[in-house]
Amino acid sequence: MGEGARTLKMKARTTTILVVALTSLSFTLVSAAKLGVVQTEAGLVQGVNKHTGLFSSVDVFKGIPFADTPGLWEKPKPHPEWDGVLKATKYADRCLQVTLLQTETRGSLDCLYLNIFVPQGSKLSSDLPVMVYLFGGAFLLGASNDLAILGDSLYDGKEMAQRGNVLVVTANYRVGTLGFLSSGDARLPGNYGLWDQHAAISWVRRNIAAFGGNPDNVTIFGQSAGAVSVSFQMLSPYSKGLFRRAITQSGVALSPWALQREPMALTKKIARKVGCYRSDEDLMLTCLKMTDPVGLTMAGKIDILQLLGKGVVMDLLELAPVVDGDFVPDEPARLFHNAANVDYLAGVNSMDGHFFAGVDVPSVNKKKANTTVENVRGFLTGLTKEKGTSAVDSAFTVYSAHWGSVPDPAVVKKTVADIETDFLFLVPTQIALQLHADHSSGGRTFSYLFNMKTRIPGFPSWVEAEHSEDLQYIFGKPFATPLVYFPRHRDLSRNMIAYWTNFAKTGDPSQGGSKVPVPWPPYSKSHHPYLAINHKMSKSSVSYDLRQHYVNYWTETYSRLPSARHSPSQD
Ligand SMILES: *[C@@H]1O[C@H](CO)[C@@H](O)[C@H](O)[C@H]1NC(C)=O
Ligand SMILES: *[C@@H]1O[C@H](CO)[C@@H](O)[C@H](O)[C@H]1NC(C)=O
Repeated sequence: MGEGARTLKMKARTTTILVVALTSLSFTLVSAAKLGVVQTEAGLVQGVNKHTGLFSSVDVFKGIPFADTPGLWEKPKPHPEWDGVLKATKYADRCLQVTLLQTETRGSLDCLYLNIFVPQGSKLSSDLPVMVYLFGGAFLLGASNDLAILGDSLYDGKEMAQRGNVLVVTANYRVGTLGFLSSGDARLPGNYGLWDQHAAISWVRRNIAAFGGNPDNVTIFGQSAGAVSVSFQMLSPYSKGLFRRAITQSGVALSPWALQREPMALTKKIARKVGCYRSDEDLMLTCLKMTDPVGLTMAGKIDILQLLGKGVVMDLLELAPVVDGDFVPDEPARLFHNAANVDYLAGVNSMDGHFFAGVDVPSVNKKKANTTVENVRGFLTGLTKEKGTSAVDSAFTVYSAHWGSVPDPAVVKKTVADIETDFLFLVPTQIALQLHADHSSGGRTFSYLFNMKTRIPGFPSWVEAEHSEDLQYIFGKPFATPLVYFPRHRDLSRNMIAYWTNFAKTGDPSQGGSKVPVPWPPYSKSHHPYLAINHKMSKSSVSYDLRQHYVNYWTETYSRLPSARHSPSQD
């Protein structure tokens, strides 16, 4: 063997040794911080450790059962124990529901599963604050792993977990007919989806320590129907001691679409669709309970044709929680004492109602059409029909006061979006903030308005933050899919994750280890600051008394108007 060959061989050997050494070094350093197999109350689970940097990773567990397959319109039951190691590496099926186009169903009855994202550094994490997310979807659609557009699900918890150093949990719950049908009494009490959420949060409380979470430091958060769900969880006496904090994004239990007040009328309508209608209610309910779940699910779909003529899109959101005298023992507004110790952060998007406005008054989004005074008055008639026609004049006066004699068409269109945002989202959220502050005994309160300009192409230039546009920033999409975002979106995402996860750690969004651009002052009984959240944040991002004039109109003038007499559409 020549000298050169020997050297080469030695070099190769050295390299091999070096590589092996480095590999085992990184193996020691990085693999030290991963969970491997975890013991839960029902058996062992194993997830996947995803590297995110040299000394950082996220342990991801997908599809851990938190309850057994639920019986039709039954409360969730504990999951039976299993032998061996459950591979928690794939998302479970979503709960049975209609597809987006409502032409068929998807999902499964076996759907009560959750997912866990645990950030790891060079040491194994322990005692992490826990954030449990409840998805939105009008109580009709959605899943913990919904909306995978560019790779991961919108609700993938890796970015939030790692950037905020919190443990993130996302959970499924039943939706549609199977989640929310109710007879309004003990025969079919309803709220099955809320019981599922409660079971998921209780599972977290009992099991999360084994994953490195702190069971005494749980925050629940959600958006849209998920926010309404968070709100109901806060107000339910069953939640006592289960979690310390809550965040609602664009929805509260006081939202006009959050509660079904005539559940039996809806149940009869659905019974008709599946051939179960009987004048004897007991027979009708017995028939429903023997009906195929797929048929029941299809019967819960939204009937767009119902809109033709009069009515507003809000009226179509019929399957929703009910006052059942149990999980929701009373009107939501009378339950805030149950949330007296819970820290609460709540807000809305500045154009949460824009999508709904475009359905109710189509000219709002049409370049070539103007929205007329008649359009606006007709829309108000549909929105305020609980008060008969008496509200239309007063509401129109309040909302057109700034138009001037020759209104700019864009101003009129934006007014329709504002009315819808106020009515469906903003005003109910301000009432919830006030009630929370009024009843607090230690629980802190924080208010925000998310008003980042829309990223949706083709919308008119006056559109700010559309419904759901906050979610991409909370879940760190500008970092996960950087090519479709600009640096300003990453600034916004970083700041929102900082506020949200600081709040989960300490109950104060400005304190807790992540730097924030401006301190967020607390809301109190008599002092109503809110933080305007967008990509340019400074001291001037804090303002007071969000849309006070309009909030006063709906909470005082409007609410004092007599209700229209109307008999529920029974048979
Ligand atoms: C809409 O209104 C503006 C201003 O009043 C007017 O100039 C324009 O012609 C109108 N457009 C249509 C399609 O009526
Ligand atoms: C919650 O977590 C934060 C951050 O880890 C910690 O500072 C705080 O003490 C925890 N609270 C409780 C009640 O354990």
